[in-house]
Amino acid sequence: MSRNWTGELIYEGKAKRVYRVNDEFLVMEFKDEVTAFDGARKEHAPSKGKLAAAQTVFLMGLLGKYGIRNHLVDWDGDRKILVRSLRMIPIEVIVRNYAYGSFLKRMPLVKSMTKFSKPLIEFHLKSDELHDPLITTDDIIEAGLASQEQLNEIMGIALRINEILNNYMASKGLTLVDFKLEFGFDKSNNLVLADELSGDTIRVLINGRHLDKELFRRGSSSADLVKAYEEMNKILGIS
Ligand code: C5P
Repeated sequence: MSRNWTGELIYEGKAKRVYRVNDEFLVMEFKDEVTAFDGARKEHAPSKGKLAAAQTVFLMGLLGKYGIRNHLVDWDGDRKILVRSLRMIPIEVIVRNYAYGSFLKRMPLVKSMTKFSKPLIEFHLKSDELHDPLITTDDIIEAGLASQEQLNEIMGIALRINEILNNYMASKGLTLVDFKLEFGFDKSNNLVLADELSGDTIRVLINGRHLDKELFRRGSSSADLVKAYEEMNKILGIS
């Protein structure tokens, strides 16, 4: 199959473009851009798109080996992946192993990097306008975005993903702090993991040092971020 996928541009975000190939497939293109603070800080980051695509392909593949259904179909070896088109649920599912980021902002009584007694799962509404607010499961059910049963299934999958990623990262000497997931439904109404799994959406440390987008949020240059993504790929065994 040729990997010169083309299609209509249906979405352009801060770090990705999405094209519709046909009813079944989309192409996600990872941009060579890095942004933080809702786009207030933005820099060109040559090679970042390919590195983030490679991370997504590798980690989706790893999860797939453990039976986690996900949207990945193919990779062009560069910045584009072919994915299954889904009916997306407009929520972000965040799993946290350590206290960090927006958790600390809303719960200053817990010290930074305290290990939680169990992984925390939280839901945020995907809305740039509202800055992705934290929402409850009741909010999601009342808005008709998902049922209680579907949320239970999402939480079960999120915890399983955390276990798989944690084990793999730990085997490479990495600490998995937290990460963000998105889900959709396929034509048979199966829950499917979607979007990306990269340094943009996962916080991961080596000896206390970030290998993820937190570097850029904290003032490092885009060139240093790209170096960190290269290091992450090397450590994870991504060619
Ligand atoms: O900022 P916060 O602590 O809520 O982020 C938790 C995790 O979710 C981090 O790994 C972050 O990279 C990820 N995240 C994301 N997209 C967002 C918000 C958070 O990938 N819009």
